[in-house]
Amino acid sequence: MGIRITPSILNADFAHLDREIAKIAPVSDLLHLDVMDHVFVPNFTFDFDSASKIISASPIPVDSHLMIADVDQLAPAYAHAGSASVTIHAEASNDVAKTLRAIRLEGARAGLALKPGTSLDLYSELIDDVDMFLIMTVEPGFGGQKFMDSMMDKVRSARKLIGDRSIWLQVDGGISLETIEIARDAGADTFVAGSAVFNSPDPADMVTRLRALSQK
Ligand code: DX5
Ligand code: ZN
Repeated sequence: MGIRITPSILNADFAHLDREIAKIAPVSDLLHLDVMDHVFVPNFTFDFDSASKIISASPIPVDSHLMIADVDQLAPAYAHAGSASVTIHAEASNDVAKTLRAIRLEGARAGLALKPGTSLDLYSELIDDVDMFLIMTVEPGFGGQKFMDSMMDKVRSARKLIGDRSIWLQVDGGISLETIEIARDAGADTFVAGSAVFNSPDPADMVTRLRALSQK
């Protein structure tokens, strides 16, 4: 099973993002871009224009994680702006299937994210429109929170639902050297890590260590 490490720049130095991204780019599969609008979540990170600039300038493919209220409107634009993958929150969308299809039509992989309290069962029938499930292992909004191992049942259910389809299964929140194997054992293959990577004195080395553990 292929695995992917997708560092989140949420805990990076926003004043020097180019430099921060350059540190991890050579060893990372995708750059995880957390877009927060101060409405769907209490925090704010980037508006569309700033995010577009990061997407265009990134030396590696970008995995845009949209924690925004007007996601049906904006998700296709994030795909059009060049994201390799665009993930929407089921809780924010009025028409999940339509928005997932619109993302694909713009040439990106379509991701569906579920907050800790959202059941996978509600969305299992949309599986043919999904290229990646994102099971949140914290409440979205902030980096540096504690990994919720109570989400591993949901990860196992998603792995079972995916079966032999080539759908990625991502976990996001509290992934570190202590937790990545727990998520891998439950069936995750795509790992977001924010504070573990960017609070480390050597972010690239941390990505390499996380990858090694996830493949052990
Ligand atoms: C949380 C974000 C995460 C966050 C992960 O809402 O979606 O991507 O940056 O950060 P850590 O790894 O610190 O939990
Ligand atoms: Zn995220």
